[in-house]
Amino acid sequence: MERTFVMVKPDGVQRGLIGEVISRLERKGLKIVAMKMLWIQEELAREHYMEHAEKPFFQALVDYITSGPVVAMVVEGKEAVKVVRTLIGATNPIEAAPGTVRGDFGMDIGRNVVHASDSLESAEREISLFFNADEIVDYSKSGEEWLYE
Ligand code: RTP
Ligand code: MG
Repeated sequence: MERTFVMVKPDGVQRGLIGEVISRLERKGLKIVAMKMLWIQEELAREHYMEHAEKPFFQALVDYITSGPVVAMVVEGKEAVKVVRTLIGATNPIEAAPGTVRGDFGMDIGRNVVHASDSLESAEREISLFFNADEIVDYSKSGEEWLYE
C-alpha cells in the first residue's frame, strides 16, 4: 500500500468543495488515514512548493496557498500516488478531463482546487511536512476484501 498527500486548496474550501473531494476519494476506494484543516503560513508554503522556487509564478502560488484555510489529508491505497493524480486531473483545469476534480470544478491554473503529491518521494516529504507520525492512523476498513484481490 502507498500513502500520498492530498490537500483541498483555499479556493476549494471557500467554494464548498471539501466534501466533494473527500467523497470522490472515498468512492474510489482510497482510505483516509489522516486529516486536518489549517491555515498555511508563508514559510510552510515556500517549503511545500520549493521545487517551484525559481518559477515566475512562485510568489503568486505562495500567496494563493496561504490565502485561506486548507484541508490536508493522507490517503492510502494501492498505487495511491498515481490513482489520486488521475482523479484530480491535469494541472490546468482548462485541459483537465471531465470527470476529474479539476476538469469538473476549475477554470484557471492558479485556482485548481486541489493538490496531490506527484511521486512517492514527494508524498513522503509532504506528509512529514504536514503531519506528525502520531497524527496518522493505522486501521483496517471494512470491505477491503471487496476492493482488492
Ligand atoms: P500541485 O502541486 O498543486 O498538486 O499541482 P501540480 O503538481 O499539478 O502542478 P505543479 O507543476 O506542481 O504546479 C504547482 C501549482 O502551481 C500553479 N501553477 N501555476 N501560472 C502557471 O503557469 C502555473 N503553473 C503552475 C498551479 O496552481 C499548480 O497547481
Ligand atoms: Mg505539484
